[in-house]
Amino acid sequence: MAVERTLAILKPDCVRKNLQGEVIARIQKAGFKILGMKQMRLTTETAGAFYAVHRGRPFYDELVKFMSSGRCVPIALEKENAVADFRTLIGATDPKEAAEGTIRKLYADSKGENIVHGSDSVENGKIEVAFFFSESELV
Ligand code: RTP
Ligand code: MG
Repeated sequence: MAVERTLAILKPDCVRKNLQGEVIARIQKAGFKILGMKQMRLTTETAGAFYAVHRGRPFYDELVKFMSSGRCVPIALEKENAVADFRTLIGATDPKEAAEGTIRKLYADSKGENIVHGSDSVENGKIEVAFFFSESELV
């Protein structure tokens, strides 16, 4: 299996609920290496650009509003098979459908406010890590 990079974002609901430490602990216990991590507040422009693939979908405006509603924590992760393994760790988009023990099942309130983002392909993992981090910030 190849070593991959994937982007996690601890979303504004995660930060508001003070769950950053618990979620990061689960990510580390699952074997992910943290290459970069920062706290920021996304503008609506930045949140809209990050989720541009969803532009035009019925939930897009709400998603952009939520993602820019408070502090978030982008985290660049590395591991063998990182993209698929991270999606398994976080669970389905809707916490009601997420498997037992997954981060979204444990902590998320709704499909819209679901605690954490994870890249959905190896290609997007690279693109999304580069969206938030320069190479010199990945150590
Ligand atoms: P993410 O990109 O944040 O990791 O989430 P995902 O891959 O599991 O889901 P995706 O289809 O990429 O959707 C991005 C985010 O949009 C919100 N959403 N709401 N109300 C809805 O039907 C709906 N569908 C999607 C969620 O917050 C989802 O994480
Ligand atoms: Mg997605």
